[in-house]
Amino acid sequence: MVTAVYPGSFDPATYGHLDVISRASLCFDRVVVGVLHNSAKSPLFSVEERVNILKEAVKDLTNVEVKAFDGLSVNFARENGAQVIIRGLRAVTDFEYELQMAQTNRVLAPDVDTVFLTTSLEYAYLSSTIMKEVACFGGDIRKFAPEGITEALLKKIQEK
Ligand code: PNS
Repeated sequence: MVTAVYPGSFDPATYGHLDVISRASLCFDRVVVGVLHNSAKSPLFSVEERVNILKEAVKDLTNVEVKAFDGLSVNFARENGAQVIIRGLRAVTDFEYELQMAQTNRVLAPDVDTVFLTTSLEYAYLSSTIMKEVACFGGDIRKFAPEGITEALLKKIQEK
């Protein structure tokens, strides 16, 4: 039984994240999506909101769980009995940071491997940051995330 964790900020999740999660769910017996609580990025959504948004979006994937976590991704992996950390790679610009993170995690936890899934081409340009920016300026975000997420984002922006 191979468990993989997929850590990230998910502020909020996009079709790109959901693509990685659904493909990971086919590769591994169990996938635990980890929503980072103590992000240095000052998230728009609270960790509870990000977890709930993701839970709703992946509810049909029976081997996927969504949890909040604090601290190191490798500790989250160990706490969940995971042998693998999943990360999505969109473009070569992601690579340097992702490689450094994977190598650091390997030093911290030699028993945990990082597996990169290349984001499907149709979502290669997409990020939570881009989606939030388009939404802030009134652009159409329906191609970026499912309705539940785009509605939550528009509501959050209106409240701000
Ligand atoms: O979605 P993101 O913001 O690209 O995800 C980044 C994340 C959460 C995977 C990364 O910041 C992380 O692992 N943070 C937890 C702290 C940690 O483990 N740092 C050591 C790896 S360099």
